[in-house]
Amino acid sequence: MTGRTVIVSNRVPSDGPPSGGLVVALHDCLRARGGVWYGTSGQIADAPRDTFDDVPGDGYAIRTFDLTQDEYDRYYLGYANSVLWPLCHRRADLMALQAGDFDAYLGVNRRLAQMMAAELRPNDLVWIHDYHFLPLAACLREAGVTATIGYFHHIPFPAVHDLLALPEHDAFPGWIAAYDLVGLQTGRDVAAALEMVRNLAGAEHLRDGALHYGGRRFEVRSFPIGIDARSFAADAGHGDGRALLNLAPAERLVIGVDRLDYSKGLDNRLRAFGTFLQARADDSVRASMLQIAPPTREEVAAYAQIRDDLERITGQVNGLHSDLDWTPIRYIHRGIPRATLAALYRAADVGFVTPFCDGMNLVAKEFVAAQDPDDPGVLILSRFAGAAEQMSQALLVNPYDIEEMATALADALVMPRPERQARHAELLSGVMQEDVAHWTDSYLRRMTRLADAKA
Ligand code: UDP
Ligand code: G6P
Repeated sequence: MTGRTVIVSNRVPSDGPPSGGLVVALHDCLRARGGVWYGTSGQIADAPRDTFDDVPGDGYAIRTFDLTQDEYDRYYLGYANSVLWPLCHRRADLMALQAGDFDAYLGVNRRLAQMMAAELRPNDLVWIHDYHFLPLAACLREAGVTATIGYFHHIPFPAVHDLLALPEHDAFPGWIAAYDLVGLQTGRDVAAALEMVRNLAGAEHLRDGALHYGGRRFEVRSFPIGIDARSFAADAGHGDGRALLNLAPAERLVIGVDRLDYSKGLDNRLRAFGTFLQARADDSVRASMLQIAPPTREEVAAYAQIRDDLERITGQVNGLHSDLDWTPIRYIHRGIPRATLAALYRAADVGFVTPFCDGMNLVAKEFVAAQDPDDPGVLILSRFAGAAEQMSQALLVNPYDIEEMATALADALVMPRPERQARHAELLSGVMQEDVAHWTDSYLRRMTRLADAKA
């Protein structure tokens, strides 16, 4: 008999109703199953503390721990977001390697492992999320935990060649092998992980598909994350996005929604919109672009430049193409609540999703769920988003090719309704079937099988 469901992620749903994709998914899962969610409190402590605080949860327990300022700087801003994030997003050139950051990262993982080890039970299913806690299972094993431990990597798995840029690359496979189940977003990610294992002396690919390394048997599989598509579609039907934006009746709308991250391809996207405006033959069809780009990780140096770049490109495009009564790009540098986003997606003719590199990209799925099936908008999607593996009916583009993206925009805006309907119907069926409940259920079903096989 399996025991409690235990979730670990850097962020927990502590400030009112959860709104981010991951937090919503796991919140619904724990509300249905009960269990415990561990994560950081968002509070800074004067000295490292080895106790948890309880935060009220909705049918489950939330146990948080504080970081010191030095830990926040070195574990979160440093190793997690200035080393592992760029490395996994094929931007090793943006890594900022600082002496002491790795020790602090490992230190936070070790402290959390010690604190959790005192509370875990052998039959618990422990599900750890994302790159903040890559070595947590190895630390839990050191602390004597035998429970079934899974990990889900929400971001791309690094290619072997890129991994060499990580000073700790020798330790990386051991962190992975300490889990029982490693969940990745796509087939491409699984291929990268298997390639890493193939290159390891002493590693074996077992007949049943599992892997063996360092005395441990573990599995690596893809579980593409989904969204709560039904609730998104319902939210989208309630608001009037066109009225919110005060759009003229004939005005067409292109929408982009992303944290202001260098992996999201925002600079090339705005350039492509500028190229599209430049190329249009006449002014009869006006398309505006709404780009929502809330700030993120602003204390990390690599994020400072992207904000300046976007403001410059937006200024150039607007300066060239604005009229007395019209500004082509509306750029909003703050977060917009989920229900409002749903109405804005529905008001849009085109969802323009062009990351250079992305684990999945939930915005692409949200855009599809929010459309009116009778008169749907068109999704333009980067080939380098994990979502592209499931969403082949989108207009797939190369985010490095500005001309190609500008052409895709022009094509999307004149696409006949029957073609829009046919593409959308197929995309929507995938988004509805492989929704977030499907993701949590398939992952936890596999974990339960592995736990039962161990018992
Ligand atoms: N989001 C939001 N408000 C905003 C911008 C984004 O609620 O102003 C949500 C968006 O709806 C999506 C998530 O943030 O659910 C972003 O997920 P995605 O996978 O696209 O990218 P990530 O930020 O995880 O890299
Ligand atoms: C991505 C990561 C998450 C992270 C989120 C927001 O989705 O996969 O782990 O929580 O971005 O980033 P932040 O640094 O604000 O938590």
